[in-house]
Amino acid sequence: MRKRMGKRMQTEILKVDPKNPEKEKLEKAAEVIREGGLVAFPTETVYGLGANALDKKAVTKIFRAKQRPMDNPLIVHISDMGMARRIAELNEVAEKLAKEFFPGPLTLVVPKKEVVPAEVTAGLDTVAIRMPSHPIALKLIEAAKVPIAAPSANLAGKPSPTKAEHVIEDLYGRIDLIIDGGETNIGVESTVLDTTTLEILRPGGLPIEEIRKLVDVKVFKGKVEVAKSPGMKYRHYAPDAELIVFYGKRDDVVEKIKKLSGELVRKGLRVGIAATNLQPYSELNAEVIELGNSIEEVAKNLFSCLRELDKKADVIIAEGVEEKGIGLAVMNRLMKASAGKFYRV
Ligand code: TXA
Ligand code: MG
Repeated sequence: MRKRMGKRMQTEILKVDPKNPEKEKLEKAAEVIREGGLVAFPTETVYGLGANALDKKAVTKIFRAKQRPMDNPLIVHISDMGMARRIAELNEVAEKLAKEFFPGPLTLVVPKKEVVPAEVTAGLDTVAIRMPSHPIALKLIEAAKVPIAAPSANLAGKPSPTKAEHVIEDLYGRIDLIIDGGETNIGVESTVLDTTTLEILRPGGLPIEEIRKLVDVKVFKGKVEVAKSPGMKYRHYAPDAELIVFYGKRDDVVEKIKKLSGELVRKGLRVGIAATNLQPYSELNAEVIELGNSIEEVAKNLFSCLRELDKKADVIIAEGVEEKGIGLAVMNRLMKASAGKFYRV
């Protein structure tokens, strides 16, 4: 039987200097946005898939290209506070946090204004806003002169893209333009804070400890049946391979991983290990990738490591990290990607 494929489209790839983005190139990308097209671009966290946030037809294309459920709302990216105020009502907390942390890896959920189409917010009366600090992202929004709705530029459910190659793997032939601005710096998505409830809906690039210096926030731990942050209810960030995570005392974690790896290899499975350090696993018959020694390096390499191991392994075993600073976001992503195979040892 012939499988019906979606129509392929021409995807252009445009290399842009991440430090000094060439103006003509961004102008060209901005034109695509203004005409209702889809542009993937780097931010300081992960690559985003952008469309004009005020054009509901363009926004609908994002969901189609990513195969994302329509009930999962998008973050609207802005380049200045004037733009934020045109689309949202900023309360006192939002003003305070924006002043301190914009531009940067923080997303604020605030009451929305009418101009924002329901497709962007999945019918919610709030909108998520973020001002990215990456020069390409910021200058692209400025050039487009409209706010840009952008989820991460991966197929829904897959690890988020931290390099243009990841976007190409997932979305080539499905979108108009990919801006290749090299590897993203932070590697996990922004922290999402609901300013109407003071709840962190998603730990991310901005550590909660930083936010707590200004505002007393709690981490939302409830079950997401109703749309609190609808993104929370889907399996996410996941490689095709089975992912198993061990965390706790490092020596015990290493022991556990070595033992399980041996068992799996004897069963004829290809094993991949995502480790903070290669050394203890050098004798194993497994593909080992080093995530890095600092928690910042681990965050930066996490998604790319999962994608890499996915190509070589049937089962991926990952070391967990301490839930401090950006480590909380790393553990949140590992927990979701492992779909419950997440064990304290
Ligand atoms: O770092 C990031 O945030 C990246 C880059 C591209 O900016 N974007 C990103 O978008 O991660 P996405 O779509 O993958 O994740 C958006 C998250 C989802 O969990 C969604 O449910 C939540 O934000 N969200 C969006 N609008 C919301 C709203 N009005 N209320 C509650 N949660 C919302
Ligand atoms: Mg995403």
